[in-house]
Parts: sequence; C-alpha cells; structure tokens
Amino acid sequence: MLERAPLFQGLSRTQLRRLAGASAFRRVRAGTELVKEDVPGSVFYVILTGTAKVTKGGRTLKRLGPNDFFGEMSILTKMPRSASVVAETPLECLTLSASGLRAAMNEDPSIAVRLLGTLAERLATLDRRAGV
Ligand code: CMP
Repeated sequence: MLERAPLFQGLSRTQLRRLAGASAFRRVRAGTELVKEDVPGSVFYVILTGTAKVTKGGRTLKRLGPNDFFGEMSILTKMPRSASVVAETPLECLTLSASGLRAAMNEDPSIAVRLLGTLAERLATLDRRAGV
C-alpha cells in the first residue's frame, strides 16, 4: 500500500518495511471527522480510497482523494489543525505518527520535498482566504 502512494515512491524495500512498521491502516465511515480545526493533533493521513473534504470556518477549501495526504501542517508547524477534514465517503487511509513522518522525511529527503511543495500551496490558499 505504501509503495503505491506517490509520496513514498523511490523508497527501498528496507525503508518501506520500516515505514510500514510505523504506520497503521484505518477505515472510517462517511461523515467521520478525522481532523478538527483549531485542535492540536499529530497524526498524518494518506488516503487510499474514498474522498474527504477540507473545511475551514464551515467553508470548503478542497476535496481530497486517493494518494492525497493531510495532517502534515500541524506536525511540521506544531500549531493546532489549520482546518477540519471530514470523510465524504467511506474512507480507507494509512496513518503515521508525527515521529513516523519525521523518520520518513529523514530516511528520504524527497518525501520532505514533496510535502513541502504541497504545504506551500496549502499555506498560500489559507493566506489568500484570510486576505493576508
Ligand atoms: P493540519 O493543519 O495538520 O490539519 C488540517 C489539514 O488540512 C492540514 O494539516 C492540511 O493537511 C489540510 N489542508 C489545510 N489547508 C488545505 C488546503 N488549502 N487544501 C488542501 N488541504 C489543506
């Protein structure tokens, strides 16, 4: 499963095995709020199947689907969750703890680079919404 996620492409068997040891599989029902705006959190999610909605102040920012990830911002910034993420359909995802994600970034800096690109895009969207 990890191997199929573009975020983790290029990892060796050993690295994938180590990452698998630090990750968990989670299946949730439609309507489940996985991440709540303004609440501290330290779990990182990669969507395997299904779609989720990212909302802030009740407004939809983005829809996420297979191979998309979320929850990286609180881990990287140590700030409360920037938005809420709710499953729109039944969702299957992989979860990683903050330390698991940090270990993965140290293992392969290209993971950090991929995360950074998405993070910058999301921050720009949040700033634009806030009129900063
Ligand atoms: P985090 O702040 O930990 O929790 C909420 C998550 O929603 C955030 O990490 C990002 O993963 C995601 N998120 C925030 N803003 C956007 C956006 N504009 N587009 C897509 N995802 C976002």
